[in-house]
Amino acid sequence: MIESAARIIVRHHCRPWRNPAITITITRRLLSSNAAAVDENQNHSDMANPHYPHMFAPLDLGPDIGRLPNRVLMGSMHTGLEGHSIPKLLLKFMNAEDDHTDLAEMACYFGERAKGGVGLMVTGGISPNRQGWVGPFAGKLSTETERDRHKVVTDMVHSIRIPTYSPDSINSTEPGRICLQILHTGRYAYHPFAVSASSTKSPISPFPARELSTSDVKATIRDFANCAVLAKEAGYDGVEIMGSEGYLINQFMVRKTNHRSDEYGGENFSNRMRLALDIVKETRNACGLDFIIIFRLSMLDLVKDGSSWEEIKALAQALEDAGVTIINTGIGWHEARIPTIATSVPRGAFSFVTKKLRDEKTVSIPLCATNRINAPSTIESILANGSADLISMARPFLADPEIVKKSREGRAEDINTCIACNQACLDHAFIGKTASCLVNPRACHETEISIEPDSVPLDERLHIGVVGSGPAGMAFAHTAATIGHHVTLFDKSDEIGGQFNMAKRIPGKEEFHETIRYFTGQLEKLRNAGKLDMQLGTEISHSEMERRSNADVGDGRIDKWIIATGVDPRVPNIPGLDHPNVLSYIDVLRHKAKVGRKVAVIGAGGIGFDVSEYLLHYNDADKKADEVNVDDFLENWGVDKALSERGGLLPEEDIKMTKPHREIILMQRKKGKLGAGLGRTTGWIHRSTLVRSNCVEMLSDVSYDEVDERGHLHITIGKGEKKTTRVLEVDNIVLCAGQISKRELEEVAVKSGGDLAKKVFTIGGAYEASELDAKRAIDMGTRLALRIKDDDVVPGKHAFHADVGAEEILYKTMMKVMR
Ligand SMILES: Cc1cc2nc3c(=O)[nH]c(=O)nc-3n(C[C@H](O)[C@H](O)[C@H](O)COP(=O)(O)O)c2cc1C
Ligand code: SF4
Repeated sequence: MIESAARIIVRHHCRPWRNPAITITITRRLLSSNAAAVDENQNHSDMANPHYPHMFAPLDLGPDIGRLPNRVLMGSMHTGLEGHSIPKLLLKFMNAEDDHTDLAEMACYFGERAKGGVGLMVTGGISPNRQGWVGPFAGKLSTETERDRHKVVTDMVHSIRIPTYSPDSINSTEPGRICLQILHTGRYAYHPFAVSASSTKSPISPFPARELSTSDVKATIRDFANCAVLAKEAGYDGVEIMGSEGYLINQFMVRKTNHRSDEYGGENFSNRMRLALDIVKETRNACGLDFIIIFRLSMLDLVKDGSSWEEIKALAQALEDAGVTIINTGIGWHEARIPTIATSVPRGAFSFVTKKLRDEKTVSIPLCATNRINAPSTIESILANGSADLISMARPFLADPEIVKKSREGRAEDINTCIACNQACLDHAFIGKTASCLVNPRACHETEISIEPDSVPLDERLHIGVVGSGPAGMAFAHTAATIGHHVTLFDKSDEIGGQFNMAKRIPGKEEFHETIRYFTGQLEKLRNAGKLDMQLGTEISHSEMERRSNADVGDGRIDKWIIATGVDPRVPNIPGLDHPNVLSYIDVLRHKAKVGRKVAVIGAGGIGFDVSEYLLHYNDADKKADEVNVDDFLENWGVDKALSERGGLLPEEDIKMTKPHREIILMQRKKGKLGAGLGRTTGWIHRSTLVRSNCVEMLSDVSYDEVDERGHLHITIGKGEKKTTRVLEVDNIVLCAGQISKRELEEVAVKSGGDLAKKVFTIGGAYEASELDAKRAIDMGTRLALRIKDDDVVPGKHAFHADVGAEEILYKTMMKVMR
């Protein structure tokens, strides 16, 4: 219901693309809580979106290109759908698929996101030649055959119309648009043909790069332009030239990787930026004016001896002169040792860089801000405060393809928010698995997983009891009820979310609040629609399961049971553990037990690291993701916000670390580096956070001998002759020694040997407790829900997690052979 309205005239900036209509009228309504009910057509008749007027102001890119319907760009992500990696090809071949190289899955993936209303999308990085491959047989576009494969993608995207707010027309729309990203990896190539500005080896690839000769450089420029022409012929609306994140173009830009003495190198920056400019000029000449050229410019290298701010500005201006349409922001080389996209990076933390370029009126083409922008409120404030003209979001489109549409409709509470965990996207990309998303297992598997509301035929709908509302239970209940089953969700706790309720308390994991918010809202809607019962504060017993399994529908019959009861902490066998100073991670994280200044943490898996971070930086506030302070983060990691230093790094002595609250000794039984099993792209951040605090001692190869009567821990380090013993005089000992599955309900049902045993399915941590794995839990819950009615789905014979094992094994074998 609209309660009142106020019309605000926004006088505009002089640049036509900043305001297509010179003056736009924004109707800013004060909306009541059910703003979602605002009629879509009515929105169009007004000239601006009532919820996020800046986000939905169209962006005019001039007469040759036209207008983008809104200010959101879907950022580039190589997901594995665009490439023809050997593992994928082999798997397709083994499955006897007719066309091993078609891009139908990629078309479906982008089609869904275009339907979700994003103004412009960029594909994952595609190489212009073989040397530029990300990995062997990764996506490349240099031939007509490769070109033709892409038409299915561009046709799909162009078939979709996106609503926009036009000052001159009601119900105005713009076509879906997509650019192809041209990415040459240079010395980041994960294959033996790597090349670069000079013969160097990057710290993140085992393959040394060969120096390109001057004629090789000119051939590479032609390859970029050829790739762009082929992209245009394939129907792409433009290209994004990848000039950041430490890839080839970036490698030419800085002295650290460019030791050349020809016209593409040397002390003079105009030589070092020549490669970028020549690529843009040739591309513009070859593709004409009606073609978008985005340049991803590294505005903050975050590596020693990176670009200076003056160089960045000079490059931006030269790029505009060379014919670039939009400048996108790149943050941090891949080898940088500062988190740039992890969940501990506060929302919008790096938009200050784009703002600086914009404030200094460096260029007059649109500037796009990027990294860790995952909510419409963040987008709106970045645009409204003049930090950027356009916002790039990449992973948020994996988490929710409809993020733009839901924002437009004022349904922010329905957005499945990207929690920036990297677990199913970047971590997959690094090991050659098709990317997906922890909170949305359908991402990049659109042709395989379909969740159609009420799609189960009426006579096949089941009454399903789900015991446990952690990630696995929530995901199962949500999918099963959505497709038409009737679900009753039981939890002995009064809140849903299971272990996510602890994760959200860890500093840097505040985004987990959002997943709980999302599922709570969606389950509530299903409940209101009569598709789901929620019985919180209810513990289910075996006898209750038996009763309901044999009851009539009116008495609450349950046809199938899903056991998603999660895990219990494993209690190691150490004498004296009953001392009151000994706590479990649940005492600390859930029950907020009082913890002293000096703490021993037993177990250095994911939970041990989380608990250590929590204890170091604990504060009572229980912050939400949008309350995390950006400046604290930048200061702690030594980012030079003034950009007065090359690469944007503060000198070591100027870094101000937040003073930790405690002293911690983190231990593991295993030999070797602590945290080796943490996420591939994020583990180093957790290790680094603890090491940099200077308050965490890490010990491996530890045997725990006893806890004495004072609550002190006696340990032995090492074995045999070299072993040493120590007594840790700590205030508390926190146990993070792994978990055991809670599957008593299944076990009793199986032992009783009755009919119930055939109806009980165990998922999530209750099925497999080796590490708490929300990715596997949500994937498993979702996939089982889709098949639960099928006759061949029987208890004990269902793994139901993404079928990517073979792909991963093949990839790893291939990498071993190549090294
Ligand atoms: C799986 C994955 C693949 C990516 N691949 C590319 C790429 O090919 N080219 C590129 O410029 N950036 C790539 N990125 C970086 C994103 O474009 C983006 O900068 C980053 O994810 C931060 O933005 P976000 O917080 O909106 O996700 C990739 C990111 C992910 C998660
Ligand atoms: S896996 Fe995690 S980081 Fe990646 S898109 Fe999903 S929520 Fe975001």
